Amino acid sequence: MKKKVILTKNYLEEAIKRLKEKFELIIVQDTGKDFVEVLKENQDAEALISFLSDNITKESIDICINLKIIANYAVGYNNIDYKHAIKKGIYVTNTPDILTAATADLTMALILSVSRRIVESDEFVRRGKFNGWEAKLMLGKELNGSTIGIIGMGRIGLALALRAKAFGMNVIYYSRTRKKEIERKYNLKFVRFIELIKESDVVSIHIPYSQDVHHLFNKDVFNLMKNDAIFINVSRGGLMDERCLAESLEKNELFGAGLDVYEFEPKITEKLKKLKNVVLAPHIGSATYKTRLAMAMMTVNDVILALSGKKPDYLIPEYKL
Ligand code: DGY
Repeated sequence: MKKKVILTKNYLEEAIKRLKEKFELIIVQDTGKDFVEVLKENQDAEALISFLSDNITKESIDICINLKIIANYAVGYNNIDYKHAIKKGIYVTNTPDILTAATADLTMALILSVSRRIVESDEFVRRGKFNGWEAKLMLGKELNGSTIGIIGMGRIGLALALRAKAFGMNVIYYSRTRKKEIERKYNLKFVRFIELIKESDVVSIHIPYSQDVHHLFNKDVFNLMKNDAIFINVSRGGLMDERCLAESLEKNELFGAGLDVYEFEPKITEKLKKLKNVVLAPHIGSATYKTRLAMAMMTVNDVILALSGKKPDYLIPEYKL
């Protein structure tokens, strides 16, 4: 008899095909039923593949008594009560590294879109307002020679630093643990958090979300930023107080912002949608076909390993502590 695997939503066909070859696959989205209801009907399921938008609580983890692995289809895993899973001996995996380039590219795309007012320009042209070259039309911010402050110098932070350097930007960074080797190798400068906030022309966050860093970017922090600075968040919405950001943008206390994540995702503060100085993306950091397929195959392989009694390849760091 095939072992049961629950996948919360549909993802890439190649991965689904592989799962179906090996397991009895239940896709919650296709049942039209509620997630918890499906778990209750399939208490013998041994693996759960979740999305970052699924809230995997202690209660839901406890429903499937034979659960061996929760494979999250994302690098972030703040949506899972992983401490509870680890306590129960359930493997928790994520998809690190593979999405670094795609996410850093999207970050750079947002920085460019905001600094050169690309979305606003596109709308201007489509509305028939372009009447010819003008000296002061859509003046933006020059990246060359400006300073980018990167919060978090993990894989994505570093990938962004290298891209920013190629655009002639000076890179400063803040991270909980200083990365001296990386600093030396790539000529990056470590600064204190407050210093970074005050000195940067572009501030971009690349840290995982946890309660400890909830609203790291609040009214006080936005107030400390330069009046013509750009704020970028492709990490997690909870890292910023979205209402305060919208207010700062409305009052032009910032040049602009580029967001791929939202505090109450998928809900977005209404005010943000009305502002011209913010570019809004629908959480597409890792959304290239190549990356999303590789991420999906990572979840499949880890499920195969766990259900054949082996240790999965991509256990979250906390599992190893
Ligand atoms: C992740 O994998 O955590 C990212 O947010 C995807 O864009």
